[in-house]
Amino acid sequence: MTDHQTRVLREDELRAANTLFRAALHVKASSDEEWERTRGGYQPGRALGVFDDELIGTARSTDSELTVPGGGQVPLAAVTGVGVRADRTRRGVLTELMRTQFADFADRGVVAANLFASEGAIYGRFGYGVATLSRSYTVTPRLARLRPEVFAGGEVELIGLEPGLDQLPEHYARMTKRPGMMARASYWWTVLSMTLRRGEEPVTIAVHHGPHEVDGFAIYRVKRTPGGGPSVLQIEDMHAGNADAFAGLWRFLLGVDLIDEIQADSRPLDEPIELLFTDPRACRVTESGDETWLRLLDVPAALAARGHAEDGDPLVVEVADPVLGHNSGRYLVTPDEVRRTDEQAALRLGVDALAMVYLGGWRPSVLAQAGRVQVAGERTAYAADRLFGARTTPWCGTFF
Ligand SMILES: CC(C)(COP(=O)(O)OP(=O)(O)OC[C@H]1O[C@@H](n2cnc3c(N)ncnc32)[C@H](O)[C@@H]1OP(=O)(O)O)[C@@H](O)C(=O)NCCC(=O)NCCS
Repeated sequence: MTDHQTRVLREDELRAANTLFRAALHVKASSDEEWERTRGGYQPGRALGVFDDELIGTARSTDSELTVPGGGQVPLAAVTGVGVRADRTRRGVLTELMRTQFADFADRGVVAANLFASEGAIYGRFGYGVATLSRSYTVTPRLARLRPEVFAGGEVELIGLEPGLDQLPEHYARMTKRPGMMARASYWWTVLSMTLRRGEEPVTIAVHHGPHEVDGFAIYRVKRTPGGGPSVLQIEDMHAGNADAFAGLWRFLLGVDLIDEIQADSRPLDEPIELLFTDPRACRVTESGDETWLRLLDVPAALAARGHAEDGDPLVVEVADPVLGHNSGRYLVTPDEVRRTDEQAALRLGVDALAMVYLGGWRPSVLAQAGRVQVAGERTAYAADRLFGARTTPWCGTFF
């Protein structure tokens, strides 16, 4: 790109950037009230703008932490607000924004970046890969009779919106154990608070009491259709720290009066919801697909931070990273250490494919079937599956 300037936006330029982003998504500009809410989500100094004579592209990010297999966490940048003015697309503006972000993240010691993609064809070229998947479902309470062995669960208590918003950040922080989950920055909670306060329907916050502390919560709204249409309980956010909390929250939700359907969006693939019911079809999956895309910015640090199967055979992995060349090379990965090596590689893959296997969402042998990973034979593929396997299916669960 020539004759362009890319720089961090000033506070007084953020609204214009937000308007540009929304226009790129074909959404009208924020009202004053909406902007008041949205601006709380901007981490100072983290919104970028590309200018020719005017602002033509923008992207921003916030600091977070990503939970990785084995329970460790790595510094994460959560990328959002990406948009290029429609009359300036396909001229390298996004490429410039990505390049600038990567350089900034490297300076900050960020190990990985993640995002939600509006389209599947945009981010792979920059080294992002689909690292978590999710599904949405609808439960029909009328059909959803719990099986006798479903746990009783503890006490569920409704707490008011204001005390709930004060308490939830602390409760959530205890539940970020699943790979792919991320710390929620104060900016994220600010936007949620303002969104929940402003909606048409009342918001309910239910917490589940475990033996020692709150170990699960659900935030929901009920949409009642005038004229006899279905009354829908929409789960806005729900986290359960253990199986008892999961069962307890669902027992509660199924008991809420005057509800025809319970909808939950972007839930973990392995959430055993249909297994709770005598009729598994009481739960209908309405959508499934990619959830978050992950970019490993510092491959050696990322590999060293995640746990690898204790009984896994050592493997030499060759990573190709055309965008951040310092990541390219061969790594010896063992259950105890990760280090660079000159030994011959048994498994070769691009950095985007590495992001897909990194959290345990995809098995290397499956990617090999699609040609996304090159392996030296079937045995190596299964050794790689074991080494990179994760006990729990990854899931992010935080939309930003
Ligand atoms: C997606 C978007 C940010 C891309 O910006 P851009 O400045 O046109 O991207 P670039 O010119 O840097 O494109 C780089 C490459 O990606 C390709 N590309 C960009 N957007 C693409 C898309 N939506 N689908 C397929 N390919 C795309 C370009 O063709 C180009 O390929 P090339 O290097 O082979 O020529 C822009 O089109 C946009 O604002 N879209 C609407 C809003 C949106 O979806 N934002 C993303 C939110 S997650």
